[in-house]
Amino acid sequence: MQKPCPFLAVYQKKTISLPIEVFIYRITQNIIDMKKLVIAMATALLTLGACSTQDGEKQEAATADINQAAIENIMTRTSIRKYKDQPVEQEKIDIMLKAAMAAPTAVNLQPWHFIVIDDKKTIDLLSGRQPTNAPLLIAVCGDTDKTTMPDGKGKLPDFWVQDVSAATENLLLAAHALGLGAVWTGVYPVMERTAEVANVLNCPPNIVPVVVVRVGYPDESPAPKDKFKEENISYNKFGQKKE
Ligand SMILES: Cc1cc2nc3c(=O)[nH]c(=O)nc-3n(C[C@H](O)[C@H](O)[C@H](O)COP(=O)(O)O)c2cc1C
Repeated sequence: MQKPCPFLAVYQKKTISLPIEVFIYRITQNIIDMKKLVIAMATALLTLGACSTQDGEKQEAATADINQAAIENIMTRTSIRKYKDQPVEQEKIDIMLKAAMAAPTAVNLQPWHFIVIDDKKTIDLLSGRQPTNAPLLIAVCGDTDKTTMPDGKGKLPDFWVQDVSAATENLLLAAHALGLGAVWTGVYPVMERTAEVANVLNCPPNIVPVVVVRVGYPDESPAPKDKFKEENISYNKFGQKKE
């Protein structure tokens, strides 16, 4: 219902001529409508603001959960060496490889190559000294052809070993997050072992196997090791402890 015009009383007392009063009435009506519009807009804005604050809080809580889950994943990873007789799905292999290749590398050269091995014969050939029932191996290799400075001025020092190691840790963490179990088996820099693995995998001279990761669904559940030691930490200078 429309509110009575405040000027109507004046009109009824006939102190103002009709056309002017109608004009004033219309303007007043417009002002009232404008006020309603402004109030409605303000209410809408406040409601939106309240909603977006709630959404923001939910978002923050979700992010905190994800951050917590990421730390939890790091702290609960442990080497798994016994596996169920169950293949690893290709989707999970893809995620592990993507996680591996998300690792940092010197000058972003990404000097690596990944060889996915699910062929039983090849798995046995690669695991001679440490037999395994892992259904999947991933050989994480350095690619020394990808270690040249971007400006073409010479080779980078051997950072590629660190790059490949960072990728391997990402791969292990991804495996754990996907409900898989994995273990790092070292290859490079033991030259005999490196040559042996390179030979089995037909690697050209620039492809250097650094790690063979064994992956599968865990058939053991060892407790993660607590390796945190205050003695391994210094502040500002070696041997200096936090006050
Ligand atoms: C460079 C390197 C080489 C490794 N080589 C082997 C290996 O040949 N065989 C094996 O069973 N585990 C190997 N491991 C796994 C370690 O034994 C394992 O990470 C360590 O005992 C700590 O246990 P955690 O992984 O459960 O925290 C290797 C790990 C690294 C980082």
